[in-house]
Amino acid sequence: MTDRYAVFGNPINHSKSPDIHKAFAAGTAQDLTYEAVCVPEDSFSDYVADFLSGSGRGLNITIPFKQDAWELSEVLSPRAELAGAVNTLYKNDAGQLCGDNTDGIGMVRDIVRNHGGEIQNKKVLILGAGGAVRGVLQPVLEEKPSKLVIANRTASKAVELAELVGDLGDVSGCGYDTLPEECFDLVINGTAASLNGEVPPISATLLAEGAWCYDMMYLAEPTAFCLWASENGAEKVMDGLGMLVEQAAASFQIWRGVEPDSKAVINKIRNSLTG
Ligand code: ATR
Repeated sequence: MTDRYAVFGNPINHSKSPDIHKAFAAGTAQDLTYEAVCVPEDSFSDYVADFLSGSGRGLNITIPFKQDAWELSEVLSPRAELAGAVNTLYKNDAGQLCGDNTDGIGMVRDIVRNHGGEIQNKKVLILGAGGAVRGVLQPVLEEKPSKLVIANRTASKAVELAELVGDLGDVSGCGYDTLPEECFDLVINGTAASLNGEVPPISATLLAEGAWCYDMMYLAEPTAFCLWASENGAEKVMDGLGMLVEQAAASFQIWRGVEPDSKAVINKIRNSLTG
């Protein structure tokens, strides 16, 4: 029987995961199917159990079930444990439900491998303190930035997140109005502000000379944060499309043991957005 994979979410109709994973499977000659499933909000655990008891080998989990998947997992990777959210599920040889979170490694790989950037020894500012930001903190800190500041509209949430990962590096949390008066080499937008065409209220003086800016969101056109970054002299401006493909690539590698060529797929998805 062909191995089955799927993404579970609600809503799910705009998910790009089936296209991405089918392209990975074709590129690596893996025989599998990948579908998008809209799961009723109260039936998540039943759907997971049902899917993985048959020929289902692995699942991606998206909004609104990432936290449910975390709770359901019997074995969590350290990065998933800290993220408080799971986007990748599978069963190990002992039949235990394993949860991982590949969002952070996806973003780091996009910045470092695809764009040739560096996080090590850089001063990094992350905007936002919601689930998306929590999901990437450990992989970012593993790159050993010299300093990480988390700034958020609700300052207390940024302070809480900073405390959560405080033993992994020099991390602090604050509100936008209490940001330290210093420059950052890499500014990452993890807020949902771009969805409304808004940019968090930060000053362009926060951008160091040669600063890079990364928006975890992506749209067919440049996001509000990407436009802000370009207008304010960032040397490099990136959106989160590469992160989307790289988190999928990391899931694919966990399930199949082979690393797909993500660059070709990033180009393909970008063309389908703008085409
Ligand atoms: P997600 O899972 O996408 O992270 P979330 O947990 O609801 O969603 O978090 C949304 C993040 O975007 C939060 O950091 C939120 O700030 P608050 O914690 O103060 O609510 C931030 N956010 C949303 N809209 C924003 C806006 N217009 N300006 C600045 N920050 C915004």
